[in-house]
Amino acid sequence: MTGLFITLEGPEGAGKSTNREYLAERLRAAGIDVVLTREPGGTPLAERIRELLLAPSDEAMCADTELLLVFAARAQHLAEVIRPALARGAVVLCDRFTDATYAYQGGGRGLSQARIAVLESFVQGSLRPDLTLVFDLPIEVGMARASARGRLDRFEQEGRTFFDAVRSTYLKRAEAEPARYRLVDAAQSLENVQGQLDGLLPQLLELHRG
Ligand code: TMP
Repeated sequence: MTGLFITLEGPEGAGKSTNREYLAERLRAAGIDVVLTREPGGTPLAERIRELLLAPSDEAMCADTELLLVFAARAQHLAEVIRPALARGAVVLCDRFTDATYAYQGGGRGLSQARIAVLESFVQGSLRPDLTLVFDLPIEVGMARASARGRLDRFEQEGRTFFDAVRSTYLKRAEAEPARYRLVDAAQSLENVQGQLDGLLPQLLELHRG
């Protein structure tokens, strides 16, 4: 039995946190074993790495350090949570995964895709998400939502150019591999976004049935 690996992606303020709960609930209501998790994080050690990544600091973190920390957390998360859950046939719903690395460390920080791809293969082997939902919205809407939440983390403190690159990387990746990605218009009301997710549910159930 193999499970289904679904990832949720998008720039800041796209409403992933609220909607991941919604999607998990809908899948559970259909009788499915769902493991809801997130990156960076998902295990105690990986959550500690997350704190290092998100905490604003006087010492600038160099881009390679950031990249390696993201993949260090991912290695732990894969070993402890994701692979065991997939092996028992669960649906893993993961808030961000390696597409975020391509978008933030690649697009945002300007690291080459090839460099990221080396670590992707090293840490994941051939494992890739079965399906990726990209919560897309205009940068200014997302940044305003993030600011309204209060203190900004190290990534949220980045400017417009960084987030333009993040968003366009997601969109380019979705365009290049349409079979794996579904775009969700996250600029709409919560009700509307949840309606879009309801619309995707039959496909998810179908994929899980294999
Ligand atoms: P979150 O606030 O959506 O949970 O994401 C945490 C931050 O981590 C977000 O700003 C994106 C960033 N991030 C990366 O830069 N690279 C990655 O590979 C991942 C998973 C997240």
